Amino acid sequence: MNLNTEYMGLQLRSPLVASASPLTSELPKLLALQDAGAGAVVLPSLFAEQIEAETHRNEALSNAGASSSPEARSYLLTPDTSQVQSYQYLDLVRQASSQLDIPVIASLNGVTEASWIDYARQIEDAGASALELNIYIIASDLTLSGRDIEQRYLNIVHAVRQQVRIPIAVKLGPYFSAPGHFAGELAAAGANGLVLFNRFYQPDIDTARLKIRNNLELSRSSEMRLPLLWMAILHGRINASLAATTGVHTTDDVVQYLLAGADVVMTTSALLEHGVGHMRTLVDGLSAWLESREMEGLHRMRGMLSQQNIPHPEEYQRANYIKILQGYETMSSRYAQPPPVRHI
Ligand SMILES: Cc1cc2nc3c(=O)[nH]c(=O)nc-3n(C[C@H](O)[C@H](O)[C@H](O)COP(=O)(O)O)c2cc1C
Repeated sequence: MNLNTEYMGLQLRSPLVASASPLTSELPKLLALQDAGAGAVVLPSLFAEQIEAETHRNEALSNAGASSSPEARSYLLTPDTSQVQSYQYLDLVRQASSQLDIPVIASLNGVTEASWIDYARQIEDAGASALELNIYIIASDLTLSGRDIEQRYLNIVHAVRQQVRIPIAVKLGPYFSAPGHFAGELAAAGANGLVLFNRFYQPDIDTARLKIRNNLELSRSSEMRLPLLWMAILHGRINASLAATTGVHTTDDVVQYLLAGADVVMTTSALLEHGVGHMRTLVDGLSAWLESREMEGLHRMRGMLSQQNIPHPEEYQRANYIKILQGYETMSSRYAQPPPVRHI
């Protein structure tokens, strides 16, 4: 089955993409994902914040050693950590880009505008096919309005767009008042693709130890409903490719996202759970689904059930919600009937 597809102008042999995670940080695993049918891979994010924190720690150590013996000082003056870490990342980009036949998408999480631009340029020079901007902002600064946060995103996209020629995707969270309008603004600012949605880390509280529990839960298929909704609303209405991320575990999940209108479907949790070979299960499952429907390519199914392609677009809106509630009301009123009165 021909699963060829296009994402941000890149030609992919399948719409299944391994999203950013530790799994995509090693060359052998990247090669295994390629063998298992992945259409592209997204490398884990280069986190500028971590690099800068390490650099400051290093500088503090070096300064602390300034008043001590020359031997101690030379011992403390290790090479600039930021160079080492970014060098390692760029090396991964270089190696992966030269050894893989499928597009290698790098990912960046910057801090300052300068860091976004600087690392974006270096990543392009290292040979990445595209760059995903992992813009991860939790709006915990209560002085910032929704518009302020949106403007930050737009400034980053605009700044990076001016500096690199490779396609750029923006991976964003769902917490915007009008995600559809904002998606259009991101595209106008120069984003070639939108990755919906980033799964923001949500901490948990350990009630026995009265501490924040920093455990990471892998996703479940049920979490795909929110990105699926926006995929369906945005399909065909925005000048950018759409990548679905969150909750892709089974062939049925892949098919749902494509029917809603995704150009590519990304997966991480399922690969962490079942191993990189699960990519093959998803790719083969998609082929089998298309064959069973006698569809000769993805173009036949993509966006078939997007909001603009269904007879009742309101099914993606509140009207449907009310209908479901009405269904519940009927059910609950049926079961909430008082027991029949017994006349003795
Ligand atoms: C262990 C782990 C590490 C991740 N690292 C990154 C990262 O470096 N950059 C990024 O943009 N997303 C990262 N993600 C998010 C995934 O790429 C993906 O968007 C998210 O897990 C939702 O997809 P899933 O339901 O298929 O897991 C990570 C996820 C996990 C579980």
